[in-house]
Amino acid sequence: MADVMKGIDWKTFQQLRGSEKKEYFTRDGSIFHVIMSQQFDRQFLDEICELTTKIRGIAKGNKGVSFLQSLLQGKRAMLYFVQPSTRTFLSFMAACQILGIQCSEVRDAATSSEMKGESQEDTVRTFSSYVDLIVMRHPQSGFAERIAFLLNQIRRPVPVINAGSGKDQHPTQALLDIYTLHRSFDNYGGIDGKRIAFVGDLLRGRTVRSLAYLLRNYRGVKLYFVAPPELQMEEDLKSYLKEQKVAFEETNTLEEVIPSVDAVYMTRIQDEYDKAGESKRIDYSAYYFKKEYLKILPPNAIIMHPLPRRDEIPVEIDGDKRAIYWRQVRNGMWVRVTLIAAIFRKDKDIKEY
Ligand code: NCD
Repeated sequence: MADVMKGIDWKTFQQLRGSEKKEYFTRDGSIFHVIMSQQFDRQFLDEICELTTKIRGIAKGNKGVSFLQSLLQGKRAMLYFVQPSTRTFLSFMAACQILGIQCSEVRDAATSSEMKGESQEDTVRTFSSYVDLIVMRHPQSGFAERIAFLLNQIRRPVPVINAGSGKDQHPTQALLDIYTLHRSFDNYGGIDGKRIAFVGDLLRGRTVRSLAYLLRNYRGVKLYFVAPPELQMEEDLKSYLKEQKVAFEETNTLEEVIPSVDAVYMTRIQDEYDKAGESKRIDYSAYYFKKEYLKILPPNAIIMHPLPRRDEIPVEIDGDKRAIYWRQVRNGMWVRVTLIAAIFRKDKDIKEY
């Protein structure tokens, strides 16, 4: 494949800011590829939230279920997940099924021709010959973006959804997190003005990065980055927030921020990215949500987690009405239905239903 798209070569493309890349992820004014959170604006986020709630309502009745199933009947999707996944994989599969899309999957590069020395680019191009949508999770940061760039140049381009790219981004998780925040604060003035603490491995956790990028779309939000010094948020994201005038504060004491937040977003240590077992030297237990914190957490605040969890949130917390991570899981499926419908321009049919 040639390394030029709409007159721009890959090297120049990579230098562009996220907001400038947006036009390359769009087709005739509609979203096409879902690659990074910087491509979304407030209007898009509000629409996704509204449409997701509408779809959930439609799916409550048999007629609605059949309507949704008919929307993308005959379309096929490839789920290319070469990094472990439970929720994201299954929710994409369920979302496709809800819309009548048939799925194929590759979950281990060892079973594909990459093992015969085929390039990853050729592998993905092969997928694109058989399907109408590629959903991919990959350990390499920026790989989904590279594939979207390459697929834009072929005769029959197919949309790419980034379902997790290394330590970098996980935009669909961020969209479901926004939907969850939006629902939770529906009666409390919405997401604008809310204080959100991100806790844990912020250096290597892609969900936090993607959500922080999206939160610049809301007025007056304040972010707290609560992490051991070795795992604090990367400079690139912090300078983005400064530039976008999003207030944030870094700290390593969780207990101090809990009384003044509207949401606590817990994360596990991402030790799969260790080079030499360095995570073992960090006392991560200081970044666990302890049962006694329930007493100091404001009554309308929420506790989130992208899951999987280890010990950051003990199971006894699950019964508290502020613990909404299992709701996030369910929301993820519906938000992905909405997103796929929007990519194939079925949003209008849904609105009119
Ligand atoms: C997250 C991920 O894969 O980044 N999981 C998810 O998709 N819900 C978080 C994690 O693995 O810790």
